[in-house]
Amino acid sequence: MHAVDTTTIRPTNLVDAIGSAPAKLILCGEHAVVYGRPAIALPLEGIRARARVRLGAPHTGIVVFATSLRRRWRVAEDPNTPLNELILATVAQLAPGTLPDLRISIRSGIPIASGMGSGAAVATAIVRALAGSFGQKLTAATISSMVYASEQRFHGTPSGIDNTVIAFEQPIWYIRPPADGDAARPAPIIQPASIATPFTLLVGDTGVRSPTRAPVGEVRARWQASTTAYNCLFDNVALLAYRIRDCLAAGAIYELGPLLSQNHALLQQIGVSSPELDALVAAAMRAGALGAKLSGAGWGGVMLALATPETAPQIAYALKAAGARRVFETTVAPYSGAPAPDTV
Ligand code: PMV
Repeated sequence: MHAVDTTTIRPTNLVDAIGSAPAKLILCGEHAVVYGRPAIALPLEGIRARARVRLGAPHTGIVVFATSLRRRWRVAEDPNTPLNELILATVAQLAPGTLPDLRISIRSGIPIASGMGSGAAVATAIVRALAGSFGQKLTAATISSMVYASEQRFHGTPSGIDNTVIAFEQPIWYIRPPADGDAARPAPIIQPASIATPFTLLVGDTGVRSPTRAPVGEVRARWQASTTAYNCLFDNVALLAYRIRDCLAAGAIYELGPLLSQNHALLQQIGVSSPELDALVAAAMRAGALGAKLSGAGWGGVMLALATPETAPQIAYALKAAGARRVFETTVAPYSGAPAPDTV
């Protein structure tokens, strides 16, 4: 009896497949969400990461082409990076015991390390494309938890909000209850966030790349040093999140603006804003925004400003004049709160 050499087992029924996933914005509650407080996140349907999976030449293994980064690598050369681990884990789940020859091409319009969920979107697009290639369907919940495992490798203590909003592609209200001693952490509370009226957001990119891990780690150190003060800041963010949820559900856009600005003030106190973010927030407000705040982990990356269709052009102009490298405009559509279909 010879041992089976898994490298010789090639799945024969693979088809070319593509998968995509949206960018995301955190409307309120970043950082506090890591400490069990609620946050609201929105998918940005129009800004996406895309992955394409094709059958590779025999015995080439899995090769990844990151077109936007001008990088190419073989997964087997470094199987322990978070993304390579995710690819291998996904293949192991879809076709256990096989080592297929695949070419995975990635293209993304989402700025990297900017608070728009680039890493989670690329990971989700790859999992979707792999599932399509193996002719299988994975639920949004399954994809979300696979990407979460990979995010943990990147960020240490992610709340899980990025992978959730990106895999489910719907506005979400998200709470990750804190761990209670040694007991297993309760599952996150994920509810659709209902949106009564469309509203316009301008997203200004400072152009400063800021990997999530650094500000998240700094906030943890500060929380450990000044636990009462930081818990109080997080509680104040939570109060805003509840009020923001009510405004969205009621279509009270003019009340929403000041609440977003108050969230920015709390993020400044938490210590995750930066001169560049503050300059863009101030410029948006001077140009007539109803409210503005940084979005994501901070210290760089993006901010968002709430506009009306009338004020949007002047705010976009002001953001560029104040140094924004890129400005995206997005209209958040009304959303009934009904869950989206749970498919790949
Ligand atoms: O990864 P980013 O920059 O989109 O932001 C993550 C949001 C944080 O609340 C700061 C961290 C987390 O895991 O929720």
